[in-house]
Amino acid sequence: MTTDIANSPVTVLGLGAMGSALAAALLKAGHPTTVWNRSPEKADALVADGAVRAASVTDAIEASPVVIACLLDYPVLEELIVPAAGALTGRHLINLTNGTPDQARALAARLEPRGIGYVDGGIMAIPSLIGGPEAFILYSGSRDAFDRARPALDRLGGAHYLGEDAGLASLYDLALLSAMYGMASGVRHAMTMVGEERAADFGPSYLVPWLQAMAAPIGQGAAADDEGSPLGMQAAGLANIVAASHGQGVPAALLSHMLTSMQDIVNAGYDDLLPPLIDQIRKAA
Ligand SMILES: NC(=O)c1ccc[n+]([C@@H]2O[C@H](COP(=O)([O-])OP(=O)(O)OC[C@H]3O[C@@H](n4cnc5c(N)ncnc54)[C@H](OP(=O)(O)O)[C@@H]3O)[C@@H](O)[C@H]2O)c1
Repeated sequence: MTTDIANSPVTVLGLGAMGSALAAALLKAGHPTTVWNRSPEKADALVADGAVRAASVTDAIEASPVVIACLLDYPVLEELIVPAAGALTGRHLINLTNGTPDQARALAARLEPRGIGYVDGGIMAIPSLIGGPEAFILYSGSRDAFDRARPALDRLGGAHYLGEDAGLASLYDLALLSAMYGMASGVRHAMTMVGEERAADFGPSYLVPWLQAMAAPIGQGAAADDEGSPLGMQAAGLANIVAASHGQGVPAALLSHMLTSMQDIVNAGYDDLLPPLIDQIRKAA
């Protein structure tokens, strides 16, 4: 199928929290949208807004040149689309189901010989942000499929194509999520240190602006070891955080681990934090 797909039909497989948001954004932008979900009632609101409810996965695929899948995980995705691969031939599958780089590469290798343009994607947004300026989605895999699906993908959030390796979007997605979970664990630790009574003010007044300010230099390639923050000073400060955490009755297991790493790096005479830190993490693995 080689139709020009600008403003053309799109199918969404999977109407969980995220799939429903994707379908709603496509409908809002004027794309004729066909939807399928295991629990069909989840399509009711979308159908009321003009979506077409398909009776089967195959019917849904056959309705559009671009098929977007957003399901729980790869086993569910494969269970649904592998039997319908015949219908997918000549179409473009944009898979926004979370998975690993190897899962993405294996699926691409399975589908591409059948004439299915496969693109894997990592959604860097929560459902309420889809279609808005803060949402962005990472894509990798078939460049041709990405270009053809682009008009629809632009409706969902900023579209970033990383390359032909289908595993790259997942790699970046999971790396970004690992940073988010690291931040979340630091946030919980900080909130626990100040205590429940102070957390309501501490969070918005101090924690959020502080994290935003600290995130900015990362974009300029700086780690936390720029010339204004020597490593020895940071190691001493980290020791104080560990001690204060204990003083507040808050276990500091993660921070203690970081402190040991940083102290080793300082003792070894490094003046750049990131390479030895990466080495240490790799060795631990
Ligand atoms: N929500 C987020 O904030 C977010 C952000 C970024 C990425 N994502 C990714 O988006 C994907 C979907 O997430 P979600 O938030 O939409 O999850 P969800 O609300 O739990 O929806 C899961 C979807 O998978 C379907 N499903 C589960 N098991 C199935 C099975 N055995 N057979 C057929 N369909 C099955 C569900 O169908 P039923 O409705 O019938 O159960 C539903 O459509 C995930 O890979 C997630 O990592 C989500």
